[in-house]
Amino acid sequence: MHAKKVIRRRADLENFTIQLLEIYKFLIPSAEEEMKRRKFFSQLDGVVNKKWPGAKLFLYGSCANAFGVRNSDIDVCLNVEDKQMSKAELVMRMAEILEADNMQNVQALTHARVPIVKFTDSVTGISCDICVNNMLAVVNTKLLRDYAKIDVRLRQLAFIVKHWAKCRQVNETYRGTLSSYAYVLMCIHFLQQRDPPILPCLQEMQPTYRVKVGKIECAYYDQVESISHFGSQNKDSLGELVTSFFEYWAFQHNYNHVVISVRTGGTFSKDEKDWTRRIGNERHLICIEDPFEISHDLGRVVDKHSIRVLRDEFYRAANIMRHDCNPAVTLFEPY
Ligand code: CTP
Ligand code: MG
Repeated sequence: MHAKKVIRRRADLENFTIQLLEIYKFLIPSAEEEMKRRKFFSQLDGVVNKKWPGAKLFLYGSCANAFGVRNSDIDVCLNVEDKQMSKAELVMRMAEILEADNMQNVQALTHARVPIVKFTDSVTGISCDICVNNMLAVVNTKLLRDYAKIDVRLRQLAFIVKHWAKCRQVNETYRGTLSSYAYVLMCIHFLQQRDPPILPCLQEMQPTYRVKVGKIECAYYDQVESISHFGSQNKDSLGELVTSFFEYWAFQHNYNHVVISVRTGGTFSKDEKDWTRRIGNERHLICIEDPFEISHDLGRVVDKHSIRVLRDEFYRAANIMRHDCNPAVTLFEPY
């Protein structure tokens, strides 16, 4: 009886994995879309190089970190050494260049917390946001991309988790839930914890890549091609990983006492950071340490109400995995 039940569950899991892989494949941007984006960026880079000597453009975010689904916007960072100009002025200058280049809907958001210029490319229809001098985002984008190269299950898991978070409306930082960036870090952390681990901790290994951004020293092992077999001892399927990911965040994670940290490859006590109480608007109800800006808790946007929303969604997901006969559909039902 018992054996029969296990076999049935394994078959369910295999079926679940097949369905999740189909969703993953559907979400991957096509080669054509990737090419269109690359061409768009190199043209934009050409225009800026010509009109603004000393300015450099970098891609960051989901169009460059391997975790972008189809039809996502493009995030670009403008890097200028000029100490005389404020971020708002740099954004204005960029907007002028884009208008002169016939881009559509150019909007310079100079008063936003992070000043950006938004626009749409008139040829391809691609939407793009340009921020200024945010090189940490460029470096953490490279870190995420390097992790993604080690084991394909990270990209698969993160696509599914991001898709779930969008369907269930818990990927909205302005409403107190988590950013896509935070979800990807949660996935990396989770795969570092598997037994045997599926991902190593690149920042604990001998650094082969070093860059200083302001006062922050960013260093980690980036020769990831040489460790592409790292996770091969672990045979977990995508279905098992998705199930355990939600179990972890529903029932195992200690929200009151623990910080998750991709930088150290594990967790540590909130006491170490003094993230035990509310300071200003930062409540630290779920603690996710940024890998480079280590005073930065990506969970700080979460408040008393949204932590409930978030944890209820983790319970819902975990319960679907335990009891639902068609989890690959129910999991993503729109909120
Ligand atoms: N970022 C960051 N700190 C944050 C949020 C974001 O440094 N608190 C940077 C990261 O480099 C991240 C990028 O901004 O890769 C974009 O963030 P986000 O929109 O959350 O992630 P995307 O990967 O672009 O996801 P989506 O597909 O949802 O746009
Ligand atoms: Mg984005």
